[in-house]
Amino acid sequence: MKYGYFDDTRREYVITQPDTPLPWINYLGCQAYFGIISNTAGGYSFYRDARLRRLTRYRYNNAPYDLGGRYIYLRDNESSEFWSPSWQPTRHDLEKYECRHGMGYSIIGSQYKGIEARTRYFVPLDENLEIWQLTVTNHRSSPAKLSTFSVVEFCLWDAQDDATNFQRNFNIGQVEIEDEVIYHKTEYRERRDHFAYFATSSKSANFDTQREAFLGPYRGWESPQAVANGKLTNSVAHGWAPVGSHQVELHLAPGESKSIIFVLGYHENPKDQKFDPPNSQTINKKTVKLTIAKYLDQKNVDRAFEELRAYWEGVLGICQVETPDSHTNRMVNIWNAYQCMATFNMSRSASFYESGIGRGLGFRDSNQDLLGFVQMVPARARERIIDLASTQLPSGGAYHQYQPLTKRGNNDVGSNFNDDPHWLIIGVAAYLKETGDWSILDEPVPYDNEPGSETPLFEHLQRSFQYTLDRLGPHGLPLIGRADWNDCLNLNCFSDTPGQSFQTTTNKEGKVAESVFIAGLFVLAGGELAEIAQRRGLKDEASRYLAEVKKMDGTVRKHGWDGDWFLRAYDDFGNKVGSRECEEGKIFIESQGFCSLAGIGLEDGLAQKSMNSVRQHLATEHGIVLQQPPFSKYYLHLGEISSYPPGYKENAGIFCHNNPWVMIAETRLGNGDAAFDYYSRINPSARESISELHRCEPYVYAQMIAGKDAPTHGEAKNSWLTGTAAWNYYAITQWILGIRTSHDGLEIAPVIPSTWRGFKAVRKFRGVTYHIDVDREAEGNHVSLVVDGKAINGNIIPVPANGQTVVKVKATLGSAVAVAGSR
Ligand code: BGC
Ligand code: NOJ
Repeated sequence: MKYGYFDDTRREYVITQPDTPLPWINYLGCQAYFGIISNTAGGYSFYRDARLRRLTRYRYNNAPYDLGGRYIYLRDNESSEFWSPSWQPTRHDLEKYECRHGMGYSIIGSQYKGIEARTRYFVPLDENLEIWQLTVTNHRSSPAKLSTFSVVEFCLWDAQDDATNFQRNFNIGQVEIEDEVIYHKTEYRERRDHFAYFATSSKSANFDTQREAFLGPYRGWESPQAVANGKLTNSVAHGWAPVGSHQVELHLAPGESKSIIFVLGYHENPKDQKFDPPNSQTINKKTVKLTIAKYLDQKNVDRAFEELRAYWEGVLGICQVETPDSHTNRMVNIWNAYQCMATFNMSRSASFYESGIGRGLGFRDSNQDLLGFVQMVPARARERIIDLASTQLPSGGAYHQYQPLTKRGNNDVGSNFNDDPHWLIIGVAAYLKETGDWSILDEPVPYDNEPGSETPLFEHLQRSFQYTLDRLGPHGLPLIGRADWNDCLNLNCFSDTPGQSFQTTTNKEGKVAESVFIAGLFVLAGGELAEIAQRRGLKDEASRYLAEVKKMDGTVRKHGWDGDWFLRAYDDFGNKVGSRECEEGKIFIESQGFCSLAGIGLEDGLAQKSMNSVRQHLATEHGIVLQQPPFSKYYLHLGEISSYPPGYKENAGIFCHNNPWVMIAETRLGNGDAAFDYYSRINPSARESISELHRCEPYVYAQMIAGKDAPTHGEAKNSWLTGTAAWNYYAITQWILGIRTSHDGLEIAPVIPSTWRGFKAVRKFRGVTYHIDVDREAEGNHVSLVVDGKAINGNIIPVPANGQTVVKVKATLGSAVAVAGSR
């Protein structure tokens, strides 16, 4: 069953039924001001940091789930009836309903008793504000006398504090109302230099700023007293719960339409110009009035919307493909790329599953997100790399997370996730291959943000690599530390206290437990680092790295191979994890995917064997599960992984993030059919038709789909903020379609399904637009290239030296030799 459809020409997903299985959301804003908006206008807004600068309040895990947001009520003043055009919160039986989630905007529209209302919500580029552009049309044959009510509930900035510290918070709320603009200024009198505002383009009849005055005692958002009465009360909030609500009268002749703009924004004043007059307690509004006035003007709003569209046209235009599969086209050309922007912006901080108060930006996560983002806005990727590296510790280790506002490592979560440092190498390598901007390696970057500790970025990479060499275990494999990629494989934790955090509790020092996954990651990252060193003229360094990589490769074969697949780890007792000797958790996906994609066992059949085992033991119709058999009980020595019921999350769920590792491994073995088959199983668009089972949005990936051991096999959870976005984008574009960035130019190495006759692509790369036409002539993956009419050797197209900006590429596929593309 479906709840809507894809409108690919407009790059929108159109939801036609408001009661989707779960709230289906979109993100507003892509730079500093952000909002989350659901298909029923639920959600909230923040500036840069979902915890520390929350503008509007949202209660997670509410019932119904999707309550609290950017609400508009319409009231028919003749019948006294009122309703929500976005369905929530009044949930009237609307005559028509449609939510169009697009690139950085959402349009929610409906019709009720002949009154149509559509609201376009978006954040203009380079502004710290959001616009709600409401258009109301009277389709009745008689005039309509309506009142419109907008409402937001302000959050008292720190969302964690806002939800807990009521003995203080009920006393501090403050607002100002001036020229019909509502200013929310809680704590402005003391240490804050920022405030929020809510304005409307129409002369507003009345306002409210105190929640209780708006809702009335004992009433909820579905039946606000003031709306029922048809009159806001002009309340001024002193403490309790400040809200912003405007009442606008709308008289519409039959067939007439009118528009109203609401602007919700965030503004910071210079410290010494906070008040006007200076020694008063009144907000200095001179610095913001022009901006407010600008966006209350329809023309400027329309222009800003066109600019947003043009921005996305440009960003998505960097890679466009035309393959025989419409799901692939749609995901690559629109939604997967779009999701990569969201994961880049949010890391794992704010979604409908990530509360925005728990996690900042993850070191491992944000580095991996670069794989799907770096081509979109390279300058922002560069800045992110420097920010990430600045939180690295002198040991080469890393804080696991940092707060986006302060850019400081988060001490509460700490470090010692022993895979973390390598992801920096992977992120930087992706950046270099995309941009060719080698200057980044010379950028002075501190450790732990300590001024004076700066070294060139390149040394950060060297320390990342060395970090593992300094922490090898009894078999010569990397020690796992607190955990590796799998946050829940906690081999040094031994937690037996209820509620204790597996992530942060003090661990054993851990000199025994080793990770085969980190070994695979070390091989991949080491290869990248050697290539970088070589190109910086550091030949000896490069050979040393390669020697270490080779040694690790050998160690994996010797101590990390279980006969038919790669082992996962050794536990604190030196026993195998992920071995046929184990009773549960005999085989894990991470080491199969990562060791094989890193190239271990490609030549001698180990990788192929490992892939066969994945197919036999882990693959399901809904994707590849993380391990088998699931853990049926809690194992003290394995930690959080065994805390989940079988089939969920890391305990044998389909953890979509790691499925693309298997896809890439399959392409490295030349198996295009297998790679694409796995790709399609978890492709959200391909799963649209089973939305009642999948439940999450059909336009973005979810972190997890319940595995075969779960009673709800096939049900997705935790959509949007997951490494799945970047990895799938990377797998399909660079490995299956094989349009791959390399230091020397654009490499063309498709490993596509045998039934495909070919495909076309346009890829912008280092200022050049490549028009690529791939044709299959015979079976196999061998590539012959004709570039601008001339045959070239190999499959890397160097960037033209002569300033040429358009290049035509004809790639012919097929030969008996089914070799995989090189890295
Ligand atoms: C989840 C992991 C997550 C970790 C860190 C665990 O409970 O299962 O997927 O990475 O928490 O927040
Ligand atoms: C989600 C985390 O964000 C990511 O860093 C981790 O690798 C996976 N969970 C697996 O545990």
